[in-house]
Amino acid sequence: MTSVSESRSPLATARTVPVQLGSRSYDVVIGPGLLANAGKEIAGRLGAARCVIVTDENVARFHLPELEAALKRENLRAGSIVLKPGEPTKSFRELEPLSERLLEMGLERGDLIVAFGGGVIGDLAGFAAAILRRGVRFVQIPTSLLAQVDSSVGGKTGIDTPQGKNLIGAFHQPSLVLADTQVLQTLPLREMRAGYAEVAKYGLLGDAAFFAWLEQNWQPVFAFDETALTRAIETSVKAKAGIVSRDETEQGERALLNLGHTFGHAFEAWCGYSDRLLHGEAIAIGMAIAFSFSEKLGLCPAGSAKRVAEHFAAVGLPTRIADIPGSKPDVDALMRLMAQDKKVRRGKLTFILVRAIGEAFIAPDVPEADVREFLAGEIAGARR
Ligand SMILES: NC(=O)c1ccc[n+]([C@@H]2O[C@H](COP(=O)([O-])OP(=O)(O)OC[C@H]3O[C@@H](n4cnc5c(N)ncnc54)[C@H](O)[C@@H]3O)[C@@H](O)[C@H]2O)c1
Ligand SMILES: [Zn+2]
Repeated sequence: MTSVSESRSPLATARTVPVQLGSRSYDVVIGPGLLANAGKEIAGRLGAARCVIVTDENVARFHLPELEAALKRENLRAGSIVLKPGEPTKSFRELEPLSERLLEMGLERGDLIVAFGGGVIGDLAGFAAAILRRGVRFVQIPTSLLAQVDSSVGGKTGIDTPQGKNLIGAFHQPSLVLADTQVLQTLPLREMRAGYAEVAKYGLLGDAAFFAWLEQNWQPVFAFDETALTRAIETSVKAKAGIVSRDETEQGERALLNLGHTFGHAFEAWCGYSDRLLHGEAIAIGMAIAFSFSEKLGLCPAGSAKRVAEHFAAVGLPTRIADIPGSKPDVDALMRLMAQDKKVRRGKLTFILVRAIGEAFIAPDVPEADVREFLAGEIAGARR
């Protein structure tokens, strides 16, 4: 069970969501102004330790001085490493010099790596923490909406290789997550929308009331209204924390977090994991399609897919294969790309399908012919 307690942080408005994993349990603290208090939060919860910040150039430009000052005030700062932004940074090429620099800076067992950035920095720095000296502690200070609601929580860390995304990695839980809602104000709107797709995902997969709340409240969320934004992030983190604490290593239920992702990963791969289609945009289309597919299979009441697509369109997310910029994939290309997805077991396609908004389930062994026929219709521009 995951419960939300009143915050133990010095900020009255902050919320704390515990991730319960026995001896690897930790708190996710969510709210405005946490960056300025990061030193106090870290020292108070994890004790005196030397901290090396790992971040990227975009985040450093806007927010690194504030975090460095906050750590310095508590005598925690040992240095910062600023990397190039973007997915290519999640690679062996960057991991090697990063690991060596961390060692050169004298990082020892008991010290802390502070992953300060979006999911790219969180995954890379978290993986470095997992392997450095056979594992050092790390703190996530996620700065993108996607990282705050998804990648910073749950302990999946890793890098990409030419063979695919996230194929090298480790489960390594952070010791603390500090999600400062104010840092999102410098995030490009397109990245904010992409992260929002993951927020909506939690409603669509398991919480119809949350999805209905988002339909009513997405505007204050995007306007950085503190109450609405904190609630959206807190509800998302609570959903993920609950799933992760019941199924840390994805033996079952955790797969529900892949709603829209089997289709979405194929669209991302088609676009070469480039700026042409961000992950959140790909899974927005993937989720809209998962609802259409479920409707077509008679699993889900008519009208659900339309409702999902209308909400995504309202916030400015794509919903159809036709919305992918540039060349559109054909059925064969999509089937090939989906078969490469790591969730494919023995050639059978496993999908996350839905019985209704808020009721996703794992559907193993979906017949390939059904998928082909459905995708052909979608590609032909079938209207929902
Ligand atoms: N570990 C997990 O469980 C998990 C889950 C989902 C996604 N991921 C991974 O996360 C990555 C995507 O994460 P992302 O969407 O955060 O991408 P990202 O880290 O590339 O960040 C997106 C862009 O926003 C910039 N940015 C971040 N915070 C900013 C801020 N506050 N102000 C201004 N600019 C800011 C970054 O520099 C970057 O250009 C992928 O590699 C994906 O595989 C991991
Ligand atoms: Zn995702």
